[in-house]
Amino acid sequence: MESSKPGNTKLWLLAFFFVSSMVVNVYFYYNNSFSLASPFLRLSWTTKAATEAEIVAAIDCSEHGRAYLDGVPVNGVPMCECHNCYSGPSCSVLASNCTADATTGDAMFLEKYWLHHRINTAVLESGWHRMSYFIGHNFMSDELDKHIRLLHKAVGNAKVDDKFLVFGNGVTQLLNGVIISLSPNVTATPAAPIKKVVAYVPYYPVFKSQTKFFNFRGYEWKGNASDYVNAPNPKDYIELVTSPNNPEGLLRKSIIKGSLAVYDHATYWPHYTPIKYTSDEDIMLFALSKYSGHSGSRFGWAFVRDKAVYDKLTTYMATNSEGVSRETQLRTLKIIKEIVLQINQHKGTVGDFNEYGYTTLRNRWIKLTNLVAQSNRFSLQKLSPEYCNYFKRVRDPSPTYGWLKCEWKQDTDCSAVLQNGNILTQSGVRFEASSRYARLSLIKTQDDFNQLMERLSILVKAKQTSASEEYNYEMDRERSIERPFIYGGDQGSYGSF
Ligand SMILES: *[C@@H]1O[C@H](CO)[C@@H](O)[C@H](O)[C@H]1NC(C)=O
Ligand SMILES: *[C@@H]1O[C@H](CO)[C@@H](O)[C@H](O)[C@H]1NC(C)=O
Ligand SMILES: *[C@@H]1O[C@H](CO)[C@@H](O)[C@H](O)[C@H]1NC(C)=O
Repeated sequence: MESSKPGNTKLWLLAFFFVSSMVVNVYFYYNNSFSLASPFLRLSWTTKAATEAEIVAAIDCSEHGRAYLDGVPVNGVPMCECHNCYSGPSCSVLASNCTADATTGDAMFLEKYWLHHRINTAVLESGWHRMSYFIGHNFMSDELDKHIRLLHKAVGNAKVDDKFLVFGNGVTQLLNGVIISLSPNVTATPAAPIKKVVAYVPYYPVFKSQTKFFNFRGYEWKGNASDYVNAPNPKDYIELVTSPNNPEGLLRKSIIKGSLAVYDHATYWPHYTPIKYTSDEDIMLFALSKYSGHSGSRFGWAFVRDKAVYDKLTTYMATNSEGVSRETQLRTLKIIKEIVLQINQHKGTVGDFNEYGYTTLRNRWIKLTNLVAQSNRFSLQKLSPEYCNYFKRVRDPSPTYGWLKCEWKQDTDCSAVLQNGNILTQSGVRFEASSRYARLSLIKTQDDFNQLMERLSILVKAKQTSASEEYNYEMDRERSIERPFIYGGDQGSYGSF
C-alpha cells in the first residue's frame, strides 16, 4: 500500500508535529499567556533586572542586616544596612554595650515570611509601568480594590460589601482626610458648630499632634474622650477609636454614644488580637504597615459607609496627593494576593501568613512575660486568652506593644529607668498616661527583640541579686523553647533563613 511506504510516514509525522506546535502556539497566544508557563517564551528585557535583584538579595549581611538595590554602593555593590548594634561590611560586628531600641512599631518580625514567599511576591516594573496620572476610578486600581475585599472576607475582621473603599498613603494621611471630611467647611457655613476631636486615654500620640498641626478651621483637638461621655450634642464630636487600642491592645468601642466614630483598625488582624467579631463601623481604617509589615510602602485604606463622606474623602485624596503611588498599588496587590492564596491553601499552618504572624509574636510574648514575672520590679498589661473566629480556637494574647509599668516606689519615670538600663522606649506621658508606664515595641527584628530581652533581664535581675537569689536563665530559656509555639509542620521551618 502507498501509505505504508517509510518516506510517507516521515512526512505524516512532520506534518503532525508542525500542526501540534501551531495549536500550542495559538493556544498560548489567545490565552494571553506570556507567562513562564509558556514553553515558548524567552525572557529578554527582564533578565538584567531579575539578575540584579537576585545578586543584591544574595549579598551576605550575616542575618543582621540587608542590602537593597537602591543602597549606597561600595565598590559597585550596595552596602549592607545593619540592624541596631551591628556594624562592619557584612554586619557581623556586635557592639558590646549598645542601647536596645524598642520605640517604633516597625513590623519587621514579618520579614522572614516574605523571604520564604519570595517567588510569588517579587515584582518587576518596566520603565513604562503606569506612567499616567490615571488608573481605575479615583486613582485606585480596581483589581486591588477587589483583592482587599477578598482579604477581609478571608480573615473575617470587617464587613466590607456595603462600603466604599478609599486608598491612602498610610492611615496617617487617611486619618486627617477623614477628620476634615466629617468637619464643616467654615467658609461655606460659618454658623455650623466646629467638630471636637477626642480619643480615649491612653491614645496614639499622632491623633493629637496631627490634629493640632493641621489646625483646620472646622475642628479642634479636645483630648480625653471620657470627659465628654454625656455631652449634650454628641454629633459635634469626632471620636477616634483605636481598636485594638495602642498601646495596651484591647478591643474597644466608641464611648460617646451618637458621636461620629472613626475606627483605627490598624492592628485588628490575627497576629495581634483575637478576631472576635466582624467589624461593621461607619468608618474603618486599615493599613499594610502593621499587617503585612510593609510600612515603607505607605499604604492604608478606609472603608466608608456614607456616600457624602466618601465623596469628600476622595476629593481630599485628589487634592492632597492625587491618590496613592501606582508602584505601591502594584506591590500591595502582589502581597495581598499571596496572603489570600496561602489562607485558601494552607490555613492553620505556618504557610498561612496569619498563623505565622501570630506564632512568631506569641513566642516573643512568652519570653517577655516569663522574664517580667521573675521579679516585682515591672508588670505588663493583663490580657486574657480569648476565642478567635479566624483560628477557630481560644488563643493567648500577643499584642503589638508591651505596656510596661514600673512598680518600685522610686521608679516614677519608667522610661528613664529603662533608658538608664540601655533600653529606649516611649514614655507613658506621650499617651497621656502616667510616667510609670513605658511602651515597648515587640514587633521589630529578632535582633531588636533579643537586645531588649538582654537589657531587660539585667534590670529584672537587679532585684534578684539584692534578694541573694540567683535565677537560672539557662533553665528559663530551655523552658520557653519547649513551649508549643514552635514552627514546623508541613510548611517547613522558617528557622533556616
Ligand atoms: C555600659 O553602658 C552603661 C550605661 O551607659 C555604663 O554604665 C556601663 O559602665 C557600660 N558597661 C561597659 C562594660 O562598658
Ligand atoms: C469650602 O467652601 C468654599 C466656599 O464655598 C469653597 O470655595 C471651598 O472649596 C470649600 N472647601 C472645601 C475643603 O470643601
Ligand atoms: C480622662 O477623663 C476621665 C473622666 O473625666 C478622668 O477620670 C481621667 O482621669 C482623664 N484622664 C486623663 C489622663 O486626663
